[in-house]
Amino acid sequence: MAIAAKDRGTVAVTGATGALGSRIAARLADGGVPQLLIGRDPSRLPELPFAEKRGPAAYDDAAAMRSALDGASTLVLISSHPTGKRLEEHASAVQAGMDVGVGRVLYVSLIGAAATATYRNARDHWLTEQYLAGAGVRHTVFRAGFYASTPAALADEEFTIRGPGGDGRVAFTTHDDIAATITGVATDESTEHDGAVLEVTGPESLTLAEAVPRIAEATGKPYRYEPETLPEAFARRWRLGISGTQIEAWISWYQAIAGGELDKVTDVVPRITGSPATPIREAGWWPAPKTAR
Ligand SMILES: NC(=O)c1ccc[n+]([C@@H]2O[C@H](COP(=O)([O-])OP(=O)(O)OC[C@H]3O[C@@H](n4cnc5c(N)ncnc54)[C@H](OP(=O)(O)O)[C@@H]3O)[C@@H](O)[C@H]2O)c1
Repeated sequence: MAIAAKDRGTVAVTGATGALGSRIAARLADGGVPQLLIGRDPSRLPELPFAEKRGPAAYDDAAAMRSALDGASTLVLISSHPTGKRLEEHASAVQAGMDVGVGRVLYVSLIGAAATATYRNARDHWLTEQYLAGAGVRHTVFRAGFYASTPAALADEEFTIRGPGGDGRVAFTTHDDIAATITGVATDESTEHDGAVLEVTGPESLTLAEAVPRIAEATGKPYRYEPETLPEAFARRWRLGISGTQIEAWISWYQAIAGGELDKVTDVVPRITGSPATPIREAGWWPAPKTAR
């Protein structure tokens, strides 16, 4: 007999104040799954049925995380913002969960995660994946595709996206597809996805010159892509007063696309959710220009 949603184990969702965690939490609530919503500021957590708010708990606060995770059987760990200490933060959250009996971790990594990934922010995702592989807990890694919303957030006030992306291709992926995929595994208590590294991508691999006009079409706003050379990319950002760390992060984001590291379409979304992956023009959520972190 199938297990009723309410009788399943409790799922803890971190980052539930954010774009991805809130979507996972909403989907779990729709399915009647009991959950613990964990945030650094619990007053910003969403109100959802079958959900208990926990926190304040930052990943590197082991005692707060133990108390927040107490009672959960599965932890959905949204990766933290890049701080230079993400491996340590993620390891602290996972260990806290294991200390209080969490039996399974679903970790949101990033497409292209590798020790030598061109995109600087993909490297510490790889480190967390290595940590998880040896942590002694059931786990599944979701390498989320580059967000469909990111080019819109990278645009300037005139809706122009400039960077050294060349003619490389990337399968931009919607937050909703990533959330649906993670929710699908979170509510599947079989061991089928244990140890798996699931690359969650959109349905089509596009150059930025192809993707950005689709955002313009979807939003009715004049988004355009203007390729930059590497020296142009550096000089413009430096003139804008952007920090070296941020310059490196964003230039390497474009370079990872240019180099073809993200030119991959997988069947993970349709296989796990039962629905086709969403094309970028149907993403449905477009952050304002100049809001990329
Ligand atoms: N696939 C992609 O293209 C892509 C693009 C950008 C980022 N990412 C990664 O994906 C993650 C989730 O994306 P998103 O769109 O949901 O980002 P988001 O809207 O910024 O949400 C991030 C969430 O993580 C929480 N968080 C961050 N650092 C934390 C820490 N040290 N301890 C506890 N909670 C922490 C934030 O809490 P607060 O509300 O307290 O800040 C927030 O709830 C990001 O954090 C980043 O690692 C992926």
